[in-house]
Amino acid sequence: STYKIAAVYGDGIGHEIVPAGLEILQAVARKHQFTLEVEVFEWGAHRYLSAGSFMPEDGLEVLRRFDAVYFGAVGLPEVDDRLPFQLYTYKVRKAFNQYVNYRPVKLLPGVDGPLKFKQAEDIDFVIIRENIEGEFVQNGKIFDADRPHGFATETNLFTRHGIEQVAHYSFQLARKRRKKLTNVTKSNTLIYTLYFWDQVIAEIADQYPDVEYQKLYVDAASASFVLQPERFDVILTTNMIGDILSDLGGATMGSLGLGPSGNINPERNFPSMFEPIHGSAPDIAGQGIANPIGQIWSGALMLEQLGETAAAADIVHAIEQTVGDKILTRDLGGRTTTAEATSILLDHL
Ligand code: NAI
Ligand code: MG
Repeated sequence: STYKIAAVYGDGIGHEIVPAGLEILQAVARKHQFTLEVEVFEWGAHRYLSAGSFMPEDGLEVLRRFDAVYFGAVGLPEVDDRLPFQLYTYKVRKAFNQYVNYRPVKLLPGVDGPLKFKQAEDIDFVIIRENIEGEFVQNGKIFDADRPHGFATETNLFTRHGIEQVAHYSFQLARKRRKKLTNVTKSNTLIYTLYFWDQVIAEIADQYPDVEYQKLYVDAASASFVLQPERFDVILTTNMIGDILSDLGGATMGSLGLGPSGNINPERNFPSMFEPIHGSAPDIAGQGIANPIGQIWSGALMLEQLGETAAAADIVHAIEQTVGDKILTRDLGGRTTTAEATSILLDHL
């Protein structure tokens, strides 16, 4: 079969790690005898600086014609940090109803993570972050910012439909894993929106009696990420909590540069988008030292979604072998460059 892939480089290290990821994807495509028709899009904050927008006006219609979007990250120090999310990331997630953000947290063999007292098998769970509602709907206003009485408000929005659909996805995922789901919430203090979130999730939980259901407040959950990560299998949480916890999860894996993610439209009415959990890392961009693994692993998630599960498993296996051989980039304490890490990964394929 043939799949059409839109490769959106974005900014910063996106220009280094997306091409690395594409090399790996093309190699497994050859091996497993399917075709990836890739088109590259030079969109992002650099385009905003020159052309006034992150993507062309018909950008969403362009992406719609593809089977999946393979994305780096957007954002540059010269561009207002509110814009990348508003004008690209959230726009795509929302337009393509990518209401699931799928983020595995897994300690790879060979990585010397910060949790010295944990084994690789202790850190192996998935964060499902609600991806199009909640705290990030950007509905607010700043009033009289420069005046002494100035104030600002911002409203969270949670719909029954939005909660139900991500909850069903999460419980079904738990069924395929270790049958444990933890709802990470903060309903003891956000007593309307997250109280409602909890109520709807508890109703859905009743429909999955075979999945062990537990509710945990995010402050306590943060401690458990460090002290007892083995208690987690599938975590279901909100947009902002999931954003924060996935960087913490990435840190427990040893580096933000390792974490993959999928912005998924489970109904497949629209393309899904796959990107590493980290940003454009302008502090290390252009040096050839970025860790490509989060991007490459995101490619494996993309192939899995496209139905090429054997090829996806091959990529994950090659990642485990590479890291297991202590081929480590600088963020993991090694000296391997992006290009070297990619070519060693290719050898393992
Ligand atoms: P960041 O994730 O880009 O970087 C945080 C730290 O992790 C930096 O020290 C960076 O060097 C390091 N790091 C990240 N990825 C790495 C990799 N693959 N290899 C080695 N080291 C890596 O987060 P930061 O600095 O808060 O944001 C930078 C820009 O990225 C901002 O403009 C921000 O808005 C944007 N951003 C974009 C996202 C997206 O497009 N989805 C997500 C998060 C941030
Ligand atoms: Mg984030």
